[in-house]
Amino acid sequence: MLEARGLVKSFGRTRALTGVSLEIAEGEIVAITGPSGSGKSTLLYCLAGIIRPESGEVVLDGRRIDTLAEAELTKLRRESFGVVFQFGELVPELTAAENVALPMRFNRHGRQESMNGAADRLARLGVSDCADQRPGELSGGQLQRVAVARALVTGPRVVFADEPTGALDTLGGE
Ligand SMILES: Nc1ncnc2c1ncn2[C@@H]1O[C@H](COP(=O)(O)OP(=O)(O)OP(=O)(O)O)[C@@H](O)[C@H]1O
Ligand SMILES: [Mg+2]
Repeated sequence: MLEARGLVKSFGRTRALTGVSLEIAEGEIVAITGPSGSGKSTLLYCLAGIIRPESGEVVLDGRRIDTLAEAELTKLRRESFGVVFQFGELVPELTAAENVALPMRFNRHGRQESMNGAADRLARLGVSDCADQRPGELSGGQLQRVAVARALVTGPRVVFADEPTGALDTLGGE
């Protein structure tokens, strides 16, 4: 379903990806491991269309996505992808529930429906209590659960998670 072909990405003189290829089937769960700085986050950002590789291809359902125009790529990401960032990246001015509701709002769901969807996700992740708190008032583990809720709320085809359980207790990580 999702394929990388020979991805190369450099930051100045740092060669983060030097020709990465992989294939991920529908329903498959893939964990990418490696030492700090080995390019895991960079690979994930390339696959998720957040950054563009210098060379190589990213293919979703047989369609090349790394060359899509910005608007089309944004639409694809909004509708088909959910991302849990390594450092949460929640909007600090919004409450946890509003943060989780945001991807649904971007997909043109109504305010109430989006807030209901957010409440449901937060409950399933055991952080209903945090709904009205802002990110600055949450613990590391609570932040990660809210970030996971936000990535799942639209029911995306692909969920990209960058070390989403680093701050969770053992039970939560599973
Ligand atoms: N925006 C950037 N600007 C400059 N260099 C970058 C940038 N992003 C990543 N790098 C460099 O690219 C390399 C790969 O970084 P990346 O974040 O992909 O590693 P990682 O495997 O996710 O590491 P970690 O396990 O610490 O999260 C590193 O050497 C990093 O310093
Ligand atoms: Mg990383």
